[in-house]
Amino acid sequence: MDNANIVLAGATGNLGGRITKAIVKRGANVRALVRPNSDPDKVEDLRKCGAEIAEVDFNSVSDLTGACRDGSCVISALCGLRKVIVDTQTLLLDAAVKAKVPRFIPSDFSIDFTTLSFGTNRNLDLRREFHERLDKAPIAATSILNGMFTHLLTGEAPFILFKLKRVVCWENPDQLMDLTAIDDTAEFTAAAALDAATPRFLRIAGDQISARGLVEVVSEATGEKFRLFRPGGLKRLATLIRFTRAILPRSSAVYPPWQGMQYMHNMFSGQAKLEPLDNGRYPGMRWTTARDVLTTYLGANPE
Ligand SMILES: NC(=O)c1ccc[n+]([C@@H]2O[C@H](COP(=O)([O-])OP(=O)(O)OC[C@H]3O[C@@H](n4cnc5c(N)ncnc54)[C@H](OP(=O)(O)O)[C@@H]3O)[C@@H](O)[C@H]2O)c1
Repeated sequence: MDNANIVLAGATGNLGGRITKAIVKRGANVRALVRPNSDPDKVEDLRKCGAEIAEVDFNSVSDLTGACRDGSCVISALCGLRKVIVDTQTLLLDAAVKAKVPRFIPSDFSIDFTTLSFGTNRNLDLRREFHERLDKAPIAATSILNGMFTHLLTGEAPFILFKLKRVVCWENPDQLMDLTAIDDTAEFTAAAALDAATPRFLRIAGDQISARGLVEVVSEATGEKFRLFRPGGLKRLATLIRFTRAILPRSSAVYPPWQGMQYMHNMFSGQAKLEPLDNGRYPGMRWTTARDVLTTYLGANPE
């Protein structure tokens, strides 16, 4: 796309920084919207990578509208709860419409929540709430759904219990789950931002793997025999989620322990499975597998 000018909110974040690099590499301009109190080192990194920096008050639609001027697409890679995903993204959307930006990519980057019922995943319910506003706005929207970031397998998401040599399975050990590397998600998002004809949803997965498949991959990568560990079925997991929510103090954390369990429930239920996949939409994309990520991780972190 000639003269593409991508306006990016959340550029100082983990995914946003990678999207910035991927767009600049493709020769387009990135206008990174940062806050006055964003980490100056992260802002400097964005500047060094070639992004144009626009410091804005995210509570001011007029500020945001000025920053969106001449934009060809607004991407949100913001992260947070209601105040950010519903409130701040709504102000950003209003600004994009006022500035006549033709396209908007919201901060979805998740499993397929369009098929889930309300109440099964707090963070994803907030995205659906924002979609109700987005789908009424006079702007073309594209959500990018990528499953879980693959690197979370190495510890943050409790799928593989490395010390116990077990892979957790909450119901069907053969249920496929979608995983995409964060860099691949950023590359694909950059390509989508520069593609004027994207549909409402784009679904990608660098790997689709079951708990049984993970047993095989992690056993090969470590040279040790891993086994499945089935603490129960989905009903028991749902009970555990309710119990954990009830006993833990209220917190403003984006990812309290029960939130990760909600993602696991959605993934093991098969309801959040991404299909059909749009992996082939942009030529030249190389997809990182769970095996790639685990082999690199275990190579760098030997027991
Ligand atoms: N599928 C998965 O497995 C997975 C995993 C992780 C994340 N994600 C998703 O990926 C997206 C990006 O997440 P991330 O991990 O890259 O987030 P992150 O590293 O925490 O970065 C969050 C970004 O949002 C900005 N931000 C937060 N609150 C804000 C506010 N009130 N006003 C303006 N800016 C605000 C931050 O700006 P400052 O630097 O100024 O604070 C930062 O740029 C989110 O949609 C997240 O849910 C998906």
